[in-house]
Amino acid sequence: MSVTIRKIQEGDKEEWTNLWSGAGGYLEFYKSTVPEKVTETTFKRFFDDKDPVYSAVAVDDSTGKIIGFANYLTHRNTWTIGDSLYLNDLFVSNDCRLKGTGRKLVEFVYTEADKFGCENTYWHTQFENHRAQLLYTKVGYKAGFLVYKRPKE
Ligand SMILES: CC(C)(COP(=O)(O)OP(=O)(O)OC[C@H]1O[C@@H](n2cnc3c(N)ncnc32)[C@H](O)[C@@H]1OP(=O)(O)O)[C@@H](O)C(=O)NCCC(=O)NCCS
Repeated sequence: MSVTIRKIQEGDKEEWTNLWSGAGGYLEFYKSTVPEKVTETTFKRFFDDKDPVYSAVAVDDSTGKIIGFANYLTHRNTWTIGDSLYLNDLFVSNDCRLKGTGRKLVEFVYTEADKFGCENTYWHTQFENHRAQLLYTKVGYKAGFLVYKRPKE
């Protein structure tokens, strides 16, 4: 399967949104939903030079269709001069998995991190997401932190 990874374009909105919040998409994988306004705002931010929020998409070269995405952002870090890159979301459509696309998306994000001069690139995953961890142990290492969150009021 030949796949091209490239930065997202404004014309990708319908396909990206479908993979993000449509049936069989990323939010469904997390048994979650977000208000439409959040999806709209997130998509807009990818194209706002003042917003350090980005997305890359994986395109199946044989169909021209988008089959996956990586959403990422950069931020300051008190431990380094350079920024850190946080890989917020990674998704490959169910019928296209295990063909190297997830790895290619992560490698693209690493190249982006280098371009931005980021000194750390990191992400979270759920303990039970063993499938994703099969990829993550090949492209990264387990950092050994637990994530805590402020409870909702
Ligand atoms: C996680 C996810 C992005 C991986 O995408 P993918 O395109 O299947 O990943 P790849 O094909 O690049 O494979 C990843 C690697 O893990 C290995 N791997 C993955 N699943 C495996 C399995 N079930 N058995 C054996 N090896 C497996 C592959 O061998 C491959 O290694 P290689 O690059 O050395 O060949 C995809 O499964 C997905 O979107 N899952 C749902 C959403 C999700 O969990 N996102 C991550 C949230 S943190």
